[in-house]
Amino acid sequence: MADECFGHPRLAALYDPLDPDRSDLDAYLDMAEEFGARRVLDIGCGTGVFALLLAGRGIEVVGVDPAGASLDVARGKPGGARVRWIEGDATALPPLRVDLATMTANVAQAVADPGAWHGTLRGAHAALRPGGRLVFETRDPARRAWEGWTREESYGRADVPGVGTVESWHQVTEVDGPLVTFRTTYVFAADGAVLTSDSTLRFREREEVGADLEGHGYVVEEVRDAPDRPGREFVFVARRPDA
Ligand SMILES: C[S@@+](CC[C@H](N)C(=O)[O-])C[C@H]1O[C@@H](n2cnc3c(N)ncnc32)[C@H](O)[C@@H]1O
Repeated sequence: MADECFGHPRLAALYDPLDPDRSDLDAYLDMAEEFGARRVLDIGCGTGVFALLLAGRGIEVVGVDPAGASLDVARGKPGGARVRWIEGDATALPPLRVDLATMTANVAQAVADPGAWHGTLRGAHAALRPGGRLVFETRDPARRAWEGWTREESYGRADVPGVGTVESWHQVTEVDGPLVTFRTTYVFAADGAVLTSDSTLRFREREEVGADLEGHGYVVEEVRDAPDRPGREFVFVARRPDA
C-alpha cells in the first residue's frame, strides 16, 4: 500500500512539523499565477498545505486525497473551510471544470499501481476545462534518489509542539525494477512508541510519462526542472486541448 502513514492519525499530524520547508510549492504557486488559474484541483492534497495557500489567494480549490487522517489535519487548519475536501482519488470525482490540476510533492510516484495511474490521468483530464493544464513532478529515475534513503542520511530529530521529540528515518526495503519500497520509522520520546509506515513509489522515465499523458489526450507543453531540485525532477506541464 502506498504512503500508508498519511492515513494514520498520529503520523498524519507529523507530516507538516517534520517537513516545515515547503519552498517546493513556490514553483506551483508561480504556475497557478502564470496560467491565470481561478479554479484548481489538487490531487493528493495530503494535509492541504498547497490547497490552503491557493485558497488564501482567492482561488477556488478542491483537494482530493484517499488518506482521511491527512484530510482531517487539513480541515482543522485556518482557512480549512474555504477548500472543498474530498476523500478519495481522481478516479471518482464529482463533475468539475477546473483551470489547473496539480500533484505536488511526488504524488504521481505515490500512485504506483498502473490502473490507479491511468485512472488518475483520465480523471484529471475529465475535471479540466478545455485548455486547462495538469502539472506535476516526478523524480528522474537516473538520479537514483532512493540510494540516499538510508538511516544515516535521512535521520532527523524534531521537537513537535504538543507531541514532544520525534526521531524518524527512512530505509529502503525493496527495489523491484521501477518500484521502490521504503519503511519510515518514527520514535516518540513522550511514550516510547515506535511506529513504522511502508510506502511504495514508482519511478517512471520521462518518455513513459509523456506517452501516458498523450495516450489520455493531453498535449505535453513542457517538461521543466524543479527550481529547488535542479536536474533531479521532471515537472510536467500537460494541457487538455481546446475543444
Ligand atoms: C508526499 S504526500 C504529498 C501531499 C501533498 N501533495 C503535499 O504537497 O504536501 C503524497 C500524497 O499522495 C496521496 N496519494 C496516494 N495515492 C493516491 C492516489 N491514488 N490518488 C491521490 N492521492 C494519492 C497520499 O495519501 C499522500 O497524501
